[in-house]
Amino acid sequence: SPLTAFVDALPKVELHVHLVGSASVPTVLELARRHPGGPVPLTEEALRDFYVFRDFPHFAEVYLAVSDLVRDPEDVATLVVGTARDLAAQNVRYVELTVTPYSHQRVGMPMPAITEALDRAVRDARERHGIRVAYIFDIPAEFGEDAARGTLDHALNHPPEALVGFGIGGDESVRAKHRDAFRDAFTAARAAGLRSLPHAGEMTGPETIWEALEHYGAERIGHGTNCLADPRLVAHLREHQIPLEVCPTSNVCTGQVATIADHPLPHLLEEGLYVTLNSDDPPMFNTTLTGEYRAAAEAFGLGAADLADLARNAVRASCLDAAGQREIL
Ligand code: HPA
Ligand code: ZN
Repeated sequence: SPLTAFVDALPKVELHVHLVGSASVPTVLELARRHPGGPVPLTEEALRDFYVFRDFPHFAEVYLAVSDLVRDPEDVATLVVGTARDLAAQNVRYVELTVTPYSHQRVGMPMPAITEALDRAVRDARERHGIRVAYIFDIPAEFGEDAARGTLDHALNHPPEALVGFGIGGDESVRAKHRDAFRDAFTAARAAGLRSLPHAGEMTGPETIWEALEHYGAERIGHGTNCLADPRLVAHLREHQIPLEVCPTSNVCTGQVATIADHPLPHLLEEGLYVTLNSDDPPMFNTTLTGEYRAAAEAFGLGAADLADLARNAVRASCLDAAGQREIL
């Protein structure tokens, strides 16, 4: 496609990508060989099969199995720098990388050691690959109150220097069970100056997005694609220009939409919503950030100007200050 070169050359930022979910296939195979006996396969072909998902719960199970291979802080630093390398090669200048510190705490890594690895990786990513890395800490919702506590404790008491945001991911349908714990964690994180950047409306409906806005003080919405079922919510998101972190291939791979052609992205744009394009867990979904821009161009007939608008949206929706944004725009 003639847009491929345009997409490659476009200076980009990535706002929605998970640390473990961006581990390359060779990296995951190396970790699996180092820690054999678990469910993660040891060959590339078998890993590709392992990355075919029936639905979101199946995806979450696979994601957890890969997370469990990350055993020491050195692995955490290696994952960050590997992700930075892969993004820099796509002309991504800045990434807000979602880390789930609870998944590293639960295999016995001390918080200060995780933080030291994250800090060191920011410096290495900048020096080796010329990309700026910032972090978002997210609560894995399936682990409930213990995860809310561990994530908040880490964010407040051992924050990496580049920590900018606080989020929540995993299965949205368990949030009601831990409503107060999750809301209280966001309240405390925001009071400490972190931006509120939760997932919402990926696999459940508008009520989850309302809750993210009203109870978590959400400043952007991870996915948010299911907002279209509620016209009043659509009007609210449009009026306040709340950015949506849209990840089209992810939604196909976890079964939220049947094919990319069925993805609601064009309707989000028609409604005047603030759309950004993101990759979520790129090797697990066999995609990349540039792949998402190309897929959007092909599936929805977007042109160069539309793609440039989406890329600019992401820069403006980022946590970069005005000077940092100007360096990219
Ligand atoms: N949604 C929820 N949880 C996740 C995701 C996601 O897109 N990626 C990794 N964990
Ligand atoms: Zn995500």
